[in-house]
Amino acid sequence: MLGVYVHWPYCARICPYCDFNVYKTRAVDEEAWANALLRDLGYWAARTPNRRLDSLYFGGGTPSLAPVRLVERVIDACARLWGFDRNPEITIEANPTDAERARFADLAAAGVNRLSLGVQSLRDEALAFLGRNHAADGARRAIATAGTVFERTTFDLIYARPDQSLDDWRAELGEALALGVSHLSLYQLTIEPGTAFDAQVAAGRWTPADDALCADAFDLSQEMTAAAGLPAYEISNHAAPGAQSRHNRLYWTYQDYIGVGPGAHGRVSSGGARLATQTPRRPQDYLAADWTPTQTPLSEDDQTVERFSFGLRLHEGMPLDEKDPFFSRNGARERLDRLIADGLLSWDGRRLAATTRGRRLLNAVLCELL
Ligand SMILES: C[S@@+](CC[C@H](N)C(=O)[O-])C[C@H]1O[C@@H](n2cnc3c(N)ncnc32)[C@H](O)[C@@H]1O
Ligand code: SF4
Repeated sequence: MLGVYVHWPYCARICPYCDFNVYKTRAVDEEAWANALLRDLGYWAARTPNRRLDSLYFGGGTPSLAPVRLVERVIDACARLWGFDRNPEITIEANPTDAERARFADLAAAGVNRLSLGVQSLRDEALAFLGRNHAADGARRAIATAGTVFERTTFDLIYARPDQSLDDWRAELGEALALGVSHLSLYQLTIEPGTAFDAQVAAGRWTPADDALCADAFDLSQEMTAAAGLPAYEISNHAAPGAQSRHNRLYWTYQDYIGVGPGAHGRVSSGGARLATQTPRRPQDYLAADWTPTQTPLSEDDQTVERFSFGLRLHEGMPLDEKDPFFSRNGARERLDRLIADGLLSWDGRRLAATTRGRRLLNAVLCELL
Protein backbone atom coordinates (compact mmCIF):
# COMPACT_ATOMS: atom_id res chain seq x y z
CA MET A 1 0.00 0.00 0.00
CA LEU A 2 1.31 3.43 -0.89
CA GLY A 3 -0.14 6.93 -0.57
CA VAL A 4 1.01 10.44 -1.43
CA TYR A 5 0.33 13.47 0.79
CA VAL A 6 0.68 16.89 -0.85
CA HIS A 7 0.95 19.85 1.53
CA TRP A 8 -0.40 23.20 0.31
CA PRO A 9 0.78 25.80 2.83
CA TYR A 10 -1.44 28.80 2.11
CA CYS A 11 -4.70 29.97 3.71
CA ALA A 12 -6.84 33.07 3.16
CA ARG A 13 -6.31 33.80 6.83
CA ILE A 14 -4.73 32.02 9.75
CA CYS A 15 -7.12 30.61 12.36
CA PRO A 16 -6.23 31.40 15.98
CA TYR A 17 -6.14 27.72 17.05
CA CYS A 18 -4.10 26.33 14.15
CA ASP A 19 -0.45 25.29 14.45
CA PHE A 20 -0.05 23.61 11.07
CA ASN A 21 2.69 24.74 8.67
CA VAL A 22 0.59 27.54 7.12
CA TYR A 23 1.08 31.04 5.71
CA LYS A 24 -1.28 33.74 4.60
CA THR A 25 -1.92 33.39 0.87
CA ARG A 26 0.19 35.41 -1.52
CA ALA A 27 0.25 35.55 -5.27
CA VAL A 28 1.08 32.01 -6.30
CA ASP A 29 3.45 31.26 -9.16
CA GLU A 30 1.82 28.15 -10.59
CA GLU A 31 4.84 27.23 -12.73
CA ALA A 32 7.24 27.45 -9.78
CA TRP A 33 4.95 25.27 -7.64
CA ALA A 34 4.43 22.75 -10.42
CA ASN A 35 8.19 22.47 -10.94
CA ALA A 36 8.90 22.00 -7.24
CA LEU A 37 6.08 19.51 -6.58
CA LEU A 38 6.75 17.47 -9.72
CA ARG A 39 10.46 17.35 -8.94
CA ASP A 40 9.67 16.16 -5.40
CA LEU A 41 7.25 13.50 -6.73
CA GLY A 42 9.76 12.36 -9.36
CA TYR A 43 12.47 11.96 -6.70
CA TRP A 44 10.27 9.56 -4.73
CA ALA A 45 8.88 7.72 -7.72
CA ALA A 46 12.46 6.76 -8.66
CA ARG A 47 12.89 5.29 -5.14
CA THR A 48 9.60 3.41 -5.02
CA PRO A 49 9.55 1.52 -8.33
CA ASN A 50 6.84 -0.96 -9.27
CA ARG A 51 4.32 0.38 -6.79
CA ARG A 52 0.89 1.85 -7.40
CA LEU A 53 -0.88 4.55 -5.43
CA ASP A 54 -3.91 3.68 -3.35
CA SER A 55 -4.44 7.24 -2.27
CA LEU A 56 -3.51 10.84 -2.98
CA TYR A 57 -4.37 13.50 -0.41
CA PHE A 58 -4.14 17.29 -0.83
CA GLY A 59 -3.99 18.77 2.67
CA GLY A 60 -2.95 22.04 4.16
CA GLY A 61 -3.37 24.80 4.54
CA THR A 62 -6.20 25.31 2.12
CA PRO A 63 -5.40 23.32 -1.03
CA SER A 64 -8.82 24.10 -2.51
CA LEU A 65 -7.43 27.63 -3.04
CA ALA A 66 -4.46 26.35 -5.08
CA PRO A 67 -4.79 26.75 -8.86
CA VAL A 68 -7.04 23.89 -10.02
CA ARG A 69 -4.68 23.38 -12.95
CA LEU A 70 -1.87 22.71 -10.45
CA VAL A 71 -3.99 20.09 -8.65
CA GLU A 72 -4.65 18.48 -12.01
CA ARG A 73 -0.96 18.49 -12.92
CA VAL A 74 -0.10 16.76 -9.64
CA ILE A 75 -2.79 14.10 -10.19
CA ASP A 76 -1.58 13.54 -13.74
CA ALA A 77 2.04 13.31 -12.58
CA CYS A 78 1.08 10.66 -9.98
CA ALA A 79 -0.72 8.67 -12.67
CA ARG A 80 2.33 8.85 -14.91
CA LEU A 81 4.99 8.23 -12.25
CA TRP A 82 3.35 5.36 -10.31
CA GLY A 83 -0.09 4.74 -11.71
CA PHE A 84 -3.13 4.48 -9.49
CA ASP A 85 -4.54 1.30 -8.07
CA ARG A 86 -8.08 0.40 -9.12
CA ASN A 87 -10.50 2.93 -7.67
CA PRO A 88 -8.01 5.21 -5.86
CA GLU A 89 -9.05 7.72 -3.22
CA ILE A 90 -8.15 11.30 -4.23
CA THR A 91 -9.04 13.76 -1.47
CA ILE A 92 -8.75 17.51 -1.17
CA GLU A 93 -9.36 19.66 1.92
CA ALA A 94 -11.50 22.76 1.41
CA ASN A 95 -12.91 25.56 3.51
CA PRO A 96 -16.66 26.00 2.98
CA THR A 97 -16.65 29.47 1.43
CA ASP A 98 -18.83 30.18 -1.60
CA ALA A 99 -15.72 31.03 -3.63
CA GLU A 100 -14.35 27.55 -3.03
CA ARG A 101 -17.73 25.92 -3.63
CA ALA A 102 -17.61 27.40 -7.12
CA ARG A 103 -14.46 25.34 -7.80
CA PHE A 104 -15.81 21.95 -6.71
CA ALA A 105 -16.88 20.87 -10.21
CA ASP A 106 -13.47 21.77 -11.66
CA LEU A 107 -11.69 19.89 -8.88
CA ALA A 108 -13.85 16.83 -9.57
CA ALA A 109 -13.13 17.13 -13.30
CA ALA A 110 -9.41 17.21 -12.43
CA GLY A 111 -9.82 13.81 -10.73
CA VAL A 112 -10.62 14.58 -7.08
CA ASN A 113 -13.25 12.12 -5.80
CA ARG A 114 -13.40 12.92 -2.08
CA LEU A 115 -13.87 16.29 -0.38
CA SER A 116 -12.93 17.10 3.20
CA LEU A 117 -14.59 20.30 4.37
CA GLY A 118 -13.38 22.32 7.36
CA VAL A 119 -16.84 23.21 8.63
CA GLN A 120 -15.69 23.44 12.30
CA SER A 121 -19.12 24.52 13.57
CA LEU A 122 -22.72 25.00 12.47
CA ARG A 123 -23.07 28.03 14.80
CA ASP A 124 -22.19 31.53 13.55
CA GLU A 125 -21.00 32.76 16.98
CA ALA A 126 -18.66 29.79 17.24
CA LEU A 127 -17.33 30.36 13.72
CA ALA A 128 -16.58 33.98 14.62
CA PHE A 129 -14.82 32.85 17.80
CA LEU A 130 -12.77 30.35 15.76
CA GLY A 131 -11.76 33.16 13.38
CA ARG A 132 -13.33 31.50 10.35
CA ASN A 133 -14.27 33.37 7.17
CA HIS A 134 -17.47 31.40 6.50
CA ALA A 135 -20.90 31.28 8.12
CA ALA A 136 -23.00 28.22 8.98
CA ASP A 137 -25.28 28.79 5.99
CA GLY A 138 -22.32 28.74 3.62
CA ALA A 139 -21.13 25.50 5.20
CA ARG A 140 -24.53 23.89 4.61
CA ARG A 141 -24.45 25.05 0.98
CA ALA A 142 -20.94 23.66 0.52
CA ILE A 143 -21.93 20.27 1.99
CA ALA A 144 -24.99 20.11 -0.28
CA THR A 145 -23.00 21.02 -3.41
CA ALA A 146 -20.22 18.60 -2.52
CA GLY A 147 -22.79 15.82 -2.25
CA THR A 148 -23.80 16.34 -5.88
CA VAL A 149 -20.23 16.68 -7.19
CA PHE A 150 -17.96 14.23 -5.34
CA GLU A 151 -18.32 10.50 -4.73
CA ARG A 152 -17.62 11.04 -1.02
CA THR A 153 -17.77 14.02 1.35
CA THR A 154 -16.54 14.36 4.91
CA PHE A 155 -16.40 17.35 7.21
CA ASP A 156 -14.60 18.43 10.37
CA LEU A 157 -16.17 19.87 13.50
CA ILE A 158 -14.39 21.29 16.53
CA TYR A 159 -16.16 20.73 19.86
CA ALA A 160 -15.43 21.34 23.55
CA ARG A 161 -15.32 25.04 22.79
CA PRO A 162 -15.49 27.39 25.79
CA ASP A 163 -19.10 28.14 26.79
CA GLN A 164 -20.39 25.13 24.80
CA SER A 165 -22.63 23.01 27.02
CA LEU A 166 -23.26 19.32 26.49
CA ASP A 167 -26.79 20.17 25.28
CA ASP A 168 -25.37 22.68 22.77
CA TRP A 169 -23.09 19.98 21.39
CA ARG A 170 -25.92 17.43 21.29
CA ALA A 171 -28.02 19.81 19.17
CA GLU A 172 -25.16 20.80 16.85
CA LEU A 173 -23.94 17.25 16.28
CA GLY A 174 -27.54 16.15 15.65
CA GLU A 175 -27.81 18.79 12.90
CA ALA A 176 -24.48 17.71 11.47
CA LEU A 177 -25.56 14.06 11.31
CA ALA A 178 -28.79 15.07 9.58
CA LEU A 179 -26.76 16.53 6.69
CA GLY A 180 -26.26 13.02 5.36
CA VAL A 181 -22.51 12.70 4.82
CA SER A 182 -20.85 9.27 5.15
CA HIS A 183 -17.82 10.44 7.18
CA LEU A 184 -17.22 12.94 10.00
CA SER A 185 -14.09 14.06 11.88
CA LEU A 186 -14.85 15.41 15.36
CA TYR A 187 -11.98 17.15 17.15
CA GLN A 188 -11.84 18.53 20.66
CA LEU A 189 -10.52 22.08 20.64
CA THR A 190 -6.84 21.85 21.60
CA ILE A 191 -4.82 24.86 22.69
CA GLU A 192 -1.62 24.47 20.72
CA PRO A 193 1.52 26.21 22.01
CA GLY A 194 2.39 29.40 20.16
CA THR A 195 -1.07 29.99 18.66
CA ALA A 196 -3.21 33.11 19.18
CA PHE A 197 -5.56 31.03 21.38
CA ASP A 198 -2.60 30.00 23.53
CA ALA A 199 -1.79 33.69 24.13
CA GLN A 200 -5.46 34.53 24.87
CA VAL A 201 -5.77 31.72 27.39
CA ALA A 202 -2.44 32.65 29.01
CA ALA A 203 -3.71 36.26 29.32
CA GLY A 204 -6.84 34.98 31.11
CA ARG A 205 -9.24 36.14 28.37
CA TRP A 206 -11.08 32.83 28.42
CA THR A 207 -10.83 29.37 29.88
CA PRO A 208 -10.84 26.12 27.87
CA ALA A 209 -13.58 23.56 28.55
CA ASP A 210 -12.85 21.44 31.61
CA ASP A 211 -11.82 17.78 31.40
CA ALA A 212 -15.15 16.44 32.66
CA LEU A 213 -17.08 18.23 29.92
CA CYS A 214 -14.57 17.10 27.29
CA ALA A 215 -14.98 13.48 28.42
CA ASP A 216 -18.79 13.73 28.42
CA ALA A 217 -18.82 15.38 24.97
CA PHE A 218 -16.51 12.63 23.66
CA ASP A 219 -18.83 9.91 25.02
CA LEU A 220 -21.88 11.66 23.62
CA SER A 221 -20.19 11.87 20.20
CA GLN A 222 -19.56 8.12 20.25
CA GLU A 223 -23.19 7.36 21.10
CA MET A 224 -24.77 9.77 18.64
CA THR A 225 -22.59 8.87 15.66
CA ALA A 226 -23.08 5.14 16.30
CA ALA A 227 -26.86 5.60 16.53
CA ALA A 228 -26.77 7.51 13.21
CA GLY A 229 -24.85 4.70 11.44
CA LEU A 230 -21.45 6.47 11.44
CA PRO A 231 -19.68 4.76 14.34
CA ALA A 232 -16.21 5.84 15.41
CA TYR A 233 -13.50 3.77 13.74
CA GLU A 234 -10.69 5.91 15.13
CA ILE A 235 -10.42 8.31 18.10
CA SER A 236 -11.78 11.31 16.13
CA ASN A 237 -13.15 9.74 12.96
CA HIS A 238 -16.59 8.31 12.23
CA ALA A 239 -17.82 6.61 9.08
CA ALA A 240 -20.61 4.63 7.50
CA PRO A 241 -19.64 1.11 6.35
CA GLY A 242 -17.17 1.36 3.45
CA ALA A 243 -16.64 5.11 3.92
CA GLN A 244 -13.54 5.14 6.15
CA SER A 245 -10.69 7.36 4.97
CA ARG A 246 -8.37 5.06 3.06
CA HIS A 247 -5.62 7.66 3.18
CA ASN A 248 -5.71 8.12 6.94
CA ARG A 249 -5.90 4.35 7.35
CA LEU A 250 -2.47 4.19 5.66
CA TYR A 251 -1.08 6.25 8.56
CA TRP A 252 -2.85 4.30 11.29
CA THR A 253 -1.92 0.91 9.85
CA TYR A 254 1.68 2.10 9.43
CA GLN A 255 1.90 1.69 5.67
CA ASP A 256 4.14 3.73 3.38
CA TYR A 257 3.27 7.28 2.39
CA ILE A 258 5.25 9.90 0.57
CA GLY A 259 5.00 13.51 1.75
CA VAL A 260 5.59 16.31 -0.75
CA GLY A 261 5.15 20.07 -0.42
CA PRO A 262 6.67 22.33 2.28
CA GLY A 263 7.29 20.62 5.61
CA ALA A 264 5.57 17.38 4.59
CA HIS A 265 6.48 14.20 6.45
CA GLY A 266 6.65 10.74 4.92
CA ARG A 267 7.33 7.14 5.92
CA VAL A 268 8.92 5.21 3.10
CA SER A 269 10.38 1.68 2.91
CA SER A 270 13.36 1.86 0.60
CA GLY A 271 16.53 -0.21 0.24
CA GLY A 272 15.64 -2.42 3.23
CA ALA A 273 15.17 0.52 5.63
CA ARG A 274 12.10 2.39 6.78
CA LEU A 275 12.74 6.11 6.43
CA ALA A 276 11.20 9.10 8.17
CA THR A 277 11.32 11.85 5.54
CA GLN A 278 10.75 15.60 5.62
CA THR A 279 10.97 18.47 3.16
CA PRO A 280 11.99 22.12 3.93
CA ARG A 281 9.24 23.83 5.93
CA ARG A 282 9.26 27.35 4.50
CA PRO A 283 7.65 27.75 1.07
CA GLN A 284 10.54 29.87 -0.24
CA ASP A 285 13.05 27.17 0.77
CA TYR A 286 10.87 24.46 -0.76
CA LEU A 287 10.59 26.36 -4.03
CA ALA A 288 14.36 26.96 -4.15
CA ALA A 289 14.77 23.36 -5.35
CA ASP A 290 18.39 22.99 -4.12
CA TRP A 291 17.55 20.39 -1.47
CA THR A 292 16.76 16.71 -1.08
CA PRO A 293 14.30 15.51 1.57
CA THR A 294 15.84 14.59 4.94
CA GLN A 295 15.72 10.82 5.36
CA THR A 296 16.24 9.30 8.78
CA PRO A 297 16.26 5.50 9.04
CA LEU A 298 13.97 4.41 11.88
CA SER A 299 15.32 1.80 14.29
CA GLU A 300 13.17 -1.24 14.98
CA ASP A 301 12.28 0.30 18.34
CA ASP A 302 11.29 3.67 16.78
CA GLN A 303 9.04 1.73 14.45
CA THR A 304 7.48 -0.21 17.31
CA VAL A 305 6.64 3.03 19.14
CA GLU A 306 5.12 4.58 16.02
CA ARG A 307 3.25 1.42 15.03
CA PHE A 308 1.56 1.21 18.45
CA SER A 309 0.89 4.95 18.71
CA PHE A 310 -0.98 4.93 15.39
CA GLY A 311 -2.44 1.43 15.48
CA LEU A 312 -4.15 1.73 18.85
CA ARG A 313 -6.09 4.76 17.60
CA LEU A 314 -8.13 2.43 15.40
CA HIS A 315 -11.08 0.66 17.03
CA GLU A 316 -10.11 -2.55 15.26
CA GLY A 317 -6.65 -2.25 16.88
CA MET A 318 -3.49 -3.69 15.32
CA PRO A 319 -1.85 -7.07 14.65
CA LEU A 320 0.27 -8.30 17.58
CA ASP A 321 1.61 -11.81 18.08
CA GLU A 322 4.15 -13.31 20.49
CA LYS A 323 6.99 -12.83 18.00
CA ASP A 324 6.48 -9.08 17.74
CA PRO A 325 9.64 -7.00 18.42
CA PHE A 326 7.54 -5.18 21.04
CA PHE A 327 8.13 -8.10 23.42
CA SER A 328 11.91 -7.64 23.34
CA ARG A 329 11.48 -4.29 25.10
CA ASN A 330 12.26 -4.18 28.79
CA GLY A 331 9.20 -5.06 30.91
CA ALA A 332 6.90 -5.05 27.87
CA ARG A 333 4.99 -8.17 28.83
CA GLU A 334 4.34 -7.00 32.40
CA ARG A 335 3.14 -3.59 31.27
CA LEU A 336 0.86 -5.12 28.66
CA ASP A 337 -0.59 -7.58 31.21
CA ARG A 338 -1.20 -4.76 33.68
CA LEU A 339 -3.06 -2.62 31.11
CA ILE A 340 -5.16 -5.64 30.12
CA ALA A 341 -5.94 -6.38 33.77
CA ASP A 342 -6.95 -2.71 34.22
CA GLY A 343 -9.43 -3.07 31.37
CA LEU A 344 -7.65 -0.58 29.10
CA LEU A 345 -6.38 -2.97 26.41
CA SER A 346 -7.59 -6.27 25.01
CA TRP A 347 -5.43 -8.89 23.27
CA ASP A 348 -6.35 -12.29 21.84
CA GLY A 349 -2.80 -13.31 20.89
CA ARG A 350 -3.26 -11.97 17.37
CA ARG A 351 -4.74 -8.49 17.66
CA LEU A 352 -4.28 -5.79 20.26
CA ALA A 353 -6.91 -3.06 20.72
CA ALA A 354 -7.75 -0.35 23.20
CA THR A 355 -11.03 -0.87 25.06
CA THR A 356 -13.65 1.88 25.20
CA ARG A 357 -12.10 3.12 28.43
CA GLY A 358 -8.59 2.74 27.02
CA ARG A 359 -9.41 4.91 24.02
CA ARG A 360 -10.56 7.72 26.29
CA LEU A 361 -7.20 7.57 28.07
CA LEU A 362 -5.15 6.64 25.02
CA ASN A 363 -2.23 9.00 25.61
CA ALA A 364 -1.75 7.72 29.16
CA VAL A 365 -2.11 4.11 27.97
CA LEU A 366 0.56 4.62 25.29
CA CYS A 367 2.90 6.29 27.80
CA GLU A 368 2.55 3.35 30.16
CA LEU A 369 2.87 0.72 27.42
CA LEU A 370 5.81 2.26 25.56
C1 LIG B 1 -5.14 21.64 8.95
S1 LIG B 1 -6.87 21.80 8.98
C2 LIG B 1 -7.11 21.81 7.24
C3 LIG B 1 -8.52 22.04 6.78
C4 LIG B 1 -8.88 23.40 6.22
N1 LIG B 1 -7.82 24.27 6.00
C5 LIG B 1 -9.80 24.08 7.19
O1 LIG B 1 -9.31 24.76 8.11
O2 LIG B 1 -11.00 23.95 7.04
C6 LIG B 1 -7.45 20.21 9.49
C7 LIG B 1 -8.43 20.20 10.63
O3 LIG B 1 -7.78 20.13 11.87
C8 LIG B 1 -8.64 20.60 12.87
N2 LIG B 1 -7.85 21.40 13.82
C9 LIG B 1 -6.79 22.17 13.53
N3 LIG B 1 -6.30 22.73 14.66
C10 LIG B 1 -7.09 22.31 15.69
C11 LIG B 1 -7.10 22.55 17.11
N4 LIG B 1 -6.21 23.35 17.69
N5 LIG B 1 -8.04 21.92 17.84
C12 LIG B 1 -8.94 21.10 17.25
N6 LIG B 1 -8.98 20.86 15.95
C13 LIG B 1 -8.06 21.45 15.15
C14 LIG B 1 -9.73 21.40 12.18
O4 LIG B 1 -10.96 20.75 12.35
C15 LIG B 1 -9.29 21.41 10.74
O5 LIG B 1 -10.37 21.32 9.87
S1 SF4 C 1 -7.47 25.63 10.32
FE1 SF4 C 1 -7.34 25.42 8.09
S2 SF4 C 1 -7.81 27.49 7.28
FE2 SF4 C 1 -7.34 27.73 9.41
S3 SF4 C 1 -5.16 28.24 9.43
FE3 SF4 C 1 -5.32 26.01 9.78
S4 SF4 C 1 -5.15 25.13 7.78
FE4 SF4 C 1 -5.60 27.33 7.46
